[in-house]
Amino acid sequence: MSARPLLNRRLAGLGTTIFAEMSALATSTGSINLGQGFPDTDGPAEIARAAADAVLTGRGNQYPPGPGIPELRQAVAEHQQRFYGLDWDPDTEVLVTAGATEAIAAAMLALLEPGDEVIAFEPFYDSYAACIAMAGATRVPLTLRAPSFRPDLDELRALITPRTRLLLVNTPHNPTGLVLHAEELAEIARLAVEHDLLVVTDEVYEHLAFSGGHHPIAALPGMRERTVSISSAGKTFSFTGWKVGWVTAAPALVSAVRTAKQYLTYVSAGPFQYAVAEALRLPDSYFDTLRADLRRKRDLLADGLTAAGFGVFTPEGTYFITTDITPLGEKDGLEFCRSLPARCGVVAIPNVVFYDDTEAGRPLVRFTFCKQDAVLEEAVARLQRL
Ligand SMILES: Cc1ncc(COP(=O)(O)O)c(C=O)c1O
Repeated sequence: MSARPLLNRRLAGLGTTIFAEMSALATSTGSINLGQGFPDTDGPAEIARAAADAVLTGRGNQYPPGPGIPELRQAVAEHQQRFYGLDWDPDTEVLVTAGATEAIAAAMLALLEPGDEVIAFEPFYDSYAACIAMAGATRVPLTLRAPSFRPDLDELRALITPRTRLLLVNTPHNPTGLVLHAEELAEIARLAVEHDLLVVTDEVYEHLAFSGGHHPIAALPGMRERTVSISSAGKTFSFTGWKVGWVTAAPALVSAVRTAKQYLTYVSAGPFQYAVAEALRLPDSYFDTLRADLRRKRDLLADGLTAAGFGVFTPEGTYFITTDITPLGEKDGLEFCRSLPARCGVVAIPNVVFYDDTEAGRPLVRFTFCKQDAVLEEAVARLQRL
């Protein structure tokens, strides 16, 4: 074998995702897994039934159309109109992907050239760094700092260079729970227009903004032509294993992203696409109940973590709480998370792995609350014994 490393140098250092490591630790120690963000209760039974029916009646069992089945593209367009007043043509402005993850990868591979810079909030969802790297581009972090985690938009302006190609936005934001406010979005949009930048926005937690609502940046002046909006069914309908996502954007952007997407998976999840088309048309009460339920769970976990001595940053959205472990006399989130299962049978995620600025993330630890109340209560009781 040659001495050359097997792994492409663009991927060097990316290693195993923290979720794989921590979920394996949860299994091997029998711990409560508040690490990875997947619900422990499946989504609506009638939507599961729709997926089963699609399989049994032969809908989507063979390769569905490359851009996604027309029923789902139509349902996505209706959803964007219903919740945000956005008008997308289901034939040319909607693309179905294998979860938001593929949409992010396809967008980065399609829109970036080696040498381009991508400004992204850090801490970032881990696939951003990997996808930017796979595209040969450079990530430029805008660090969100405790306790507010609000972005410093003067700093954003200063980070823009002639090499900046796109802004990668995520709201509601994983892991901090930040939800961008209207004036912040307006300023980001203004900078994008002024510097002629593309914006890729990851909105998978769009229905989990607990106060003030979710505002898509694509709706702002000058943004329709330069924004790739990404979302998916996993979080909104509690079927994270189905991996059905979508892109909405102007035709030229959808066409570019589709070019990359067709050589990643070509198509995916045929029968699930039918079921997600139904899910997107669920009445408002479904979305309201989901949000109210998770808000209640947020408060349950936040109170429990506070009582256990953590510094708690109450999230405005998502189903994650970021905490500070320094009040517990701890300094290093990675060490803390690796030892937590043995110490008290709970798994959490160290935020430091989502930062380039490791000092900013070192004492921060993320817990998810998309679990049954009894599980959250037991986790809190265990953490209070720390
Ligand atoms: C911010 C963010 N984007 C994307 C994803 C992945 O979405 P999907 O499962 O649809 O690929 C996640 C999952 O945790 C996420 O937190």
